[in-house]
Amino acid sequence: MTTFAIRPYHPTDLTSLYRICLQTGDHGRDATLLYRDPDLLGHIYAAPYAVFEPDLCFLLTRNAVPCGYILGTRDSVAFGERCERDWLPPLRARYPLPEPTDPSSDAWAIRHIHASALVSDEEMQAYVASYPAHLHIDLLPEAQRQGWGRKLMERFWHELRGMGVTAVHLGVSRSNPRAVAFYKKLGYRPVHQYPKAIMFGIKL
Ligand SMILES: CC(C)(COP(=O)(O)OP(=O)(O)OC[C@H]1O[C@@H](n2cnc3c(N)ncnc32)[C@H](O)[C@@H]1OP(=O)(O)O)[C@@H](O)C(=O)NCCC(=O)NCCS
Repeated sequence: MTTFAIRPYHPTDLTSLYRICLQTGDHGRDATLLYRDPDLLGHIYAAPYAVFEPDLCFLLTRNAVPCGYILGTRDSVAFGERCERDWLPPLRARYPLPEPTDPSSDAWAIRHIHASALVSDEEMQAYVASYPAHLHIDLLPEAQRQGWGRKLMERFWHELRGMGVTAVHLGVSRSNPRAVAFYKKLGYRPVHQYPKAIMFGIKL
């Protein structure tokens, strides 16, 4: 029998977050073959959230093995400042900036690690002011399209409401139409358009 369950994050789940992040990191598909360093995506999109805000991280398990997660921050401005102070400096030292001509996925991710994590530009400040929290959600294929994404999202919203947070945003690649359809179905609306990504927001 297959049993799925949602449970709070425990620090022993950190490697599972890195694994799932990589296996869904190519616009929702497995990015394992794209990266020489399998940890780069997790350093950016998963681990700092679980480390800094573990009470906003939830695991989906299949027969007790993690197969999905939702995680995020209640305050995107404070989270960016904390990453600049406590998360990114050792990563920047460990991963020197690549040559500007390096087209690899690793180089792209390392440039991301060196870019500012602060909510600095005016466009971003505008939607973060209205939708202060943000999140990431990733489920392995074996867990998709069975209602678990919706359940994880509802759990996350419930936690945010309990913290007095009234709105949340997220970013999705235009090359991930399945995730775009999911967010729209759950009631998210576009709050900003970038050339390669759409920012969605929802009031709780
Ligand atoms: C996108 C993702 C989080 C959706 O979670 P899920 O568990 O597959 O979605 P659910 O089964 O909970 O679906 C919830 C609703 O969204 C709709 N939906 C989900 N995927 C959809 C798709 N590909 N196309 C159209 N609608 C979709 C469902 O029909 C459902 O509607 P209903 O509740 O009215 O029946 C999940 O598929 C996933 O993690 N994908 C890979 C990683 C990824 O892309 N993450 C997002 C990065 S921004």
